[in-house]
Amino acid sequence: MSGVKVDLKDNGPILISGDIVLNDGEGNPIDTGGKACIALCRCAETTNSPFCDGKHKDCNYSAKDRA
Ligand code: FES
Repeated sequence: MSGVKVDLKDNGPILISGDIVLNDGEGNPIDTGGKACIALCRCAETTNSPFCDGKHKDCNYSAKDRA
């Protein structure tokens, strides 16, 4: 069975794994490099948007709520 798994990491990125199709706000595809798992930034400090580049650690990102 195929599917998509989404994990919200505490004070970190959103991990998405599975059969991923990622589009921008206009519906244009974003290249995920064929990866089976991607990490999307939610701290807004990444220099590789929309992907996490680890900057959440440098800025001590703290999610307001635990999802
Ligand atoms: S969540 Fe990792 S750089 Fe933003």
